[in-house]
Amino acid sequence: MDILLKEVRKQFGEREVLRGVNLHCKSGRTTVVFGLSGGGKSTIIKLIVRLIEPTSGEIFIGGESITRASPKRLNEMRKNIGFLFQSGALFDSKNVLENVAFPLEEHTKLSRTEIRKIVCEKLELVGLRPDVVLHLFPDELSGGMKKRVGLARSIALNPRIILYDEPTSGLDPISSDHITQMIRHLQAELGVTSVLISHDIKESFKAGDDMAMLLDGRIIEYGEADAFAQSEHAEVHQFLEGKGEGKIALL
Ligand SMILES: Nc1ncnc2c1ncn2[C@@H]1O[C@H](COP(=O)(O)OP(=O)(O)OP(=O)(O)O)[C@@H](O)[C@H]1O
Ligand SMILES: [Mg+2]
Repeated sequence: MDILLKEVRKQFGEREVLRGVNLHCKSGRTTVVFGLSGGGKSTIIKLIVRLIEPTSGEIFIGGESITRASPKRLNEMRKNIGFLFQSGALFDSKNVLENVAFPLEEHTKLSRTEIRKIVCEKLELVGLRPDVVLHLFPDELSGGMKKRVGLARSIALNPRIILYDEPTSGLDPISSDHITQMIRHLQAELGVTSVLISHDIKESFKAGDDMAMLLDGRIIEYGEADAFAQSEHAEVHQFLEGKGEGKIALL
């Protein structure tokens, strides 16, 4: 199931954050979106699941416009999309079991026992021991554990598309690699289409197939990882090499 953004614009107040984004996230592949902090990457993810509306332009999921979908259809389309928010966004008043079970309770008629079984499977998949974490509350988890619980929740319904907003930020290198392997595993085993936003260039190159660079509200470069790394755009190299001096000025 692919994702297509066509001439997507998004304005917040005076500022036009996205100024005509065209991006094709190909089916069964992982597309990484690079860009400056505040450049609009999380905005792109929120637009794909239609948590916010574009100012103009249109977004298609598997060829179907999510932008024009009715509320009922939107709800059905969202079942196919797992998203991991940058903040983790767990429910503070719910424990880990209840957090991960939430989408299953909302969208399925499975029994409590079946739901619990799926929750445990997903927790194991993200490297958490169900017997240890199931009854803990978010404020009893470390930052990295919260990320993993969020990830377990985003894959609870076996979505065809997964949107990862900074899945490894704040994690140690080994945990980061574990998450990267999991992204790869979900893609290889289940043919999931993913969008990955990450400031971790090393992990991004390990996880991603296609790379896009968002700058000044547009995608200025796009290509398979190897070609992207050979880009003719000085901005891409400045970004990948993390140089403060160059064509890109901070926002
Ligand atoms: N709901 C909103 N209302 C007003 N402005 C917003 C809103 N959401 C995002 N913005 C603004 O849009 C810009 C892009 O934000 P966004 O979160 O998409 O950036 P980002 O590329 O994800 O940055 P980071 O790498 O720091 O996470 C920022 O200037 C932000 O302040
Ligand atoms: Mg962001």
